[in-house]
Amino acid sequence: MTPNRLEITRPDDWHLHLRDGAALASVIGHTAERFARAIVMPNLKPPVTTVVQAEDYRRRIMACLPKDSRFQPLMTLYLTESMSVEEIARAKASDNVFAVKYYPAGATTNSDSGVRDLSHVYPVLEAMEKHELPLLLHGEVTDSAIDIFDRERVFIERHLMPLRERFPALRMVLEHITTRDAVEFVTAAPANVAATLTAHHLLLNRNAIFAGGINPHHYCLPILKRETHRLALLQAATSGDTHFFLGTDSAPHAREAKESSCGCAGLYTSHAALELYAEAFDQVGRLDQLEAFASFHGPDFYRLPRNTDRITLDRKPWMVPDEYPLAASTCRPMRAGESVAWSMLEARAS
Ligand code: NCD
Ligand code: ZN
Repeated sequence: MTPNRLEITRPDDWHLHLRDGAALASVIGHTAERFARAIVMPNLKPPVTTVVQAEDYRRRIMACLPKDSRFQPLMTLYLTESMSVEEIARAKASDNVFAVKYYPAGATTNSDSGVRDLSHVYPVLEAMEKHELPLLLHGEVTDSAIDIFDRERVFIERHLMPLRERFPALRMVLEHITTRDAVEFVTAAPANVAATLTAHHLLLNRNAIFAGGINPHHYCLPILKRETHRLALLQAATSGDTHFFLGTDSAPHAREAKESSCGCAGLYTSHAALELYAEAFDQVGRLDQLEAFASFHGPDFYRLPRNTDRITLDRKPWMVPDEYPLAASTCRPMRAGESVAWSMLEARAS
C-alpha cells in the first residue's frame, strides 16, 4: 500500500540556477518554500569566478528573501583557465563558498568562459584536492563530432576516468546525470564521488521533446535520453545508495528565449520540485527512499548538518499554471497547464 501523506526532513537542492536581478526575485520563493539550502550555480553573465563576487551574489539572493526566511544559498565558483590557486584557498576559508563548477567551454547556457582543456587547470584541481573542496562537473564533451546523446558517456571515458586517476582524492559530483553509464561509473566509485539527479530526467525520456510536435520546454542539457537510461536513473535514485542525491537543475528562461529559432536549454521545476520527485519515487513504489535521497545523502556528502525541520506532502493533485512571472517576461514551468500528483502542505519547525 502506498501512503497518501509523506512527512520528511526538509530537503536541500544541490544544483540550482537562481539567475540574478529581477529574474532572481521572481523565482527564489519557489525554492525557499521547499528547501532549506541550495547549491547555487555560478553561470551568470559574467560568471561568478571569485569569492568576492560569490559573496556579493549571495547578498543579492538574501535581499530577495522574506525577512523571516531561513533559506541558505550555498555559493559556488565558476572554474576558468585563469583561476588562481590562491582563489581556491580563499574559497576554502570562506563561510559561503562550498564548491567549484566545471563547465566545458561552450557546453551550455553561459559557458563561454568554461574550461577548454582540463590540463590547463591541473594546479587548481590539485589545490581543490588538498583543500577538499568539491568539483561539480557538467559532464559532457563539446566535440561536435560526438552525437549529442553520447556526450555524457564519452565525457566519462575521455575525461572523467583520467581525472579520477590523476586526482584520486578529489571530491567530485557528476551533476544532473542522464545515462546508465554515469550511474554505473558513480555506483562503482568510492565515497568521494557522487552524483545529482534531476526530477525531469527521472520523469521524462527523450520522446517528451517530440511528443505531438517539437516542444522546446523539454529541451535541456544534458538532453533527455532514452527510456532505458531513465529507468537506470530511477533505480539509482531510489536504491538508497548514498552516492546519489537531489539536484533539480531548475533553470528558468524567458518563454520567448525558449520558443525561438534557437531555443535555450533548461527546464524550470522549482515550483513543484519535491512534488515531482515524489511522483517519480511513487512510480517504482519507493516513496520510503525519498527522504534519504532528498534530505540525507547531500548534506552527508557536503559534510553539513542534516536539516531538522520537516515538510509534508499529500497525494493531492494540483494544476500547474501555464506560466510564472520571470522578470519582465514569463517562464513556462514543467507540467504547465497539467497536474502534479503531490501537493506540499505546511512546513513544521523542529
Ligand atoms: C542550464 C542553464 O540554463 O543555466 N541549462 C540546462 O539545460 N541545464 C545550464 C546547465 O546547467 O547546463
Ligand atoms: Zn545546471
